[in-house]
Amino acid sequence: MITAIALMGMAITACGQNKNKKHNKEMKTLVAYFSATGTTQAVAEDLAEVTGATLYEIKPEVAYTAADLDWTDKTSRSSVEMQDRAFRPAIVKDLKDAGTYDVIFIGFPVWWYTAPTLINTFIETYGFKGKTVIFFATSGGSSIDKANAEFKEQYPEIKWKAGKTLNRATKEEIKTWAEGVCFRQKND
Ligand SMILES: Cc1cc2nc3c(=O)[nH]c(=O)nc-3n(C[C@H](O)[C@H](O)[C@H](O)COP(=O)(O)O)c2cc1C
Repeated sequence: MITAIALMGMAITACGQNKNKKHNKEMKTLVAYFSATGTTQAVAEDLAEVTGATLYEIKPEVAYTAADLDWTDKTSRSSVEMQDRAFRPAIVKDLKDAGTYDVIFIGFPVWWYTAPTLINTFIETYGFKGKTVIFFATSGGSSIDKANAEFKEQYPEIKWKAGKTLNRATKEEIKTWAEGVCFRQKND
C-alpha cells in the first residue's frame, strides 16, 4: 500500500511541475487543445488542473461556424478540409516557449475517425522533436486509435505515448489516466 502511494507520487512528478529529484530537473507539461464546440475544452481544463500543466488553446485563424462543422454536408468546410489530408488549416501561432515543454498533451474532437488536420498544423509549427506527446480526444463514440497510429507514423521524431478518448470522463478518471500514462516509461 505504501509502495502504491509512493508510486502515485512519482507518477504526478513525472508529468507535473514538481521537481523530479532523481534527475534534478523540472518536467514542464503543456495541455494544448482544439475544441470547436467546447466538449474537448472542458476535458482539457480538468487535465491541466490535475497535472499542474499550462493550458493552451489551439485556435484556427478562422473559427469554425456551425455550418462549417456540418459533417452531413459534403461541401462544408470541415468535410472539404478532411477530404484532403495534406491540407493544413492556418492556426494562430502564439504559443510561447514551446521548446521548453517536456511533455505535451494534445486534445481534439475526433473528426472523420481521426484528428482534425489543424492538429497536423500545430505539430508542424512547433516540431516537438524528442518530446513526449500524448493525445486525448472527445468523440461521438469513435476511438482515438486511428489518430494515435497515423501520427506516430507521420512524426517518428516525437516520443509518442498512446492517447485516450475521454468522453464524459470525471476529473478523477482523468487524473487516474494522466498519472498512469505519465508514469509509463516506455513509449508506445
Ligand atoms: C466535422 C466533424 C466530424 C466528426 N466526426 C466524428 C467521427 O468520426 N466519430 C465520432 O465519434 N464523432 C465525430 N464527431 C463528433 C465530435 O467528435 C464530438 O462531438 C466532439 O466531442 C466535439 O468536441 P468539441 O466540442 O471539443 O469540438 C465529428 C464532429 C464534427 C464536427
